[in-house]
Amino acid sequence: GKVRAPTHIISTISDDRGMLGTFDALICEEPCYAGVPMSSIVEKGLGVGDVISLLWFKRSLPRYCTQFIEICIMLCADHGPCVSGAHNTIVTARAGKDLVSSLVSGLLTIGPRFGGAIDDAARYFKDAYERGLTPYEFVEGMKKKGIRVPGIGHRIKRGDNRDKRVELLQHFARTHFPSVKYMEYAVQVETYTLSKANNLVLNVDGAIGSLFLDLLAGSGMFTKQEIDEIVGIGYLNGLFVLARSIGLIGHTFDQKRLKQPLYRHPWEDVLYTK
Ligand code: ACO
Ligand code: LMR
Repeated sequence: GKVRAPTHIISTISDDRGMLGTFDALICEEPCYAGVPMSSIVEKGLGVGDVISLLWFKRSLPRYCTQFIEICIMLCADHGPCVSGAHNTIVTARAGKDLVSSLVSGLLTIGPRFGGAIDDAARYFKDAYERGLTPYEFVEGMKKKGIRVPGIGHRIKRGDNRDKRVELLQHFARTHFPSVKYMEYAVQVETYTLSKANNLVLNVDGAIGSLFLDLLAGSGMFTKQEIDEIVGIGYLNGLFVLARSIGLIGHTFDQKRLKQPLYRHPWEDVLYTK
């Protein structure tokens, strides 16, 4: 019989070897994403949300889910030159570095304070909702533990100057999702935190984190174990990483196009002290 040599790599999301037909004549070298041939993706007019569904979640998701994913990507693509990621990318591009170096320099700022709070927001909101904690119990419990609530707070957004991205995501979900229970919980948390300080708004990370819980739970496409795995591994910061790459690449081209010189921070903006 056939002897199968043990493999050193297991992969389950894509296959570039071509579809296997019964006859040699039917074998064509068409790559598949989660079993879906590329021709079918193109013929059906699918978009990047569908490709993310296939390659990250290994299934085709309903249109409103893929549209939501695409809206997240579009709304998080850029937020101006002053934010952490763009700043790093601009400084790196101006130091004469190449596209990939400039891009990753910006990406490396994504983390618990900037853009990378989506997974933790989903984890903490899910846990608090499932334990039936009131917003007061949740927020004050976090304070006792010395942990800032992920998904809450912004450097420039305020209770009286909300983040438009959050409003757009909430409006889409309220219109298309079967349930927005996690998002409504996050909004209750925001109502409580805003009563403490005007900058403690639900930010775009918190909006995506809570709404993705609603997407996972409400679509009927995931088991409870699968949702726990997705939240546990932490897939959702990937949305911000992917989205912001679009803007960071744009900032790199912008600096090159403008032939900007080496950046040096002005002395007068540094407090030199002992
Ligand atoms: N939960 C509870 N209290 C908070 C929070 C929060 N998320 N954020 C700020 N505060 C309170 C704290 O009392 C803080 O004082 P502390 O330093 O003793 O903890 C006080 O507000 C002032 O905090 P600042 O550091 O001045 O707030 P800043 O404007 O610098 O922080 C930030 C903004 C980093 C977003 C902060 O709110 C935070 O850490 N949030 C959680 C992480 C998060 O969601 N990041 C994603 C932001 S959206 C994006 O990047 C796309
Ligand atoms: C962003 O999307 O980059 C921001 O929300 C962060 C910021 O400081 O504006």
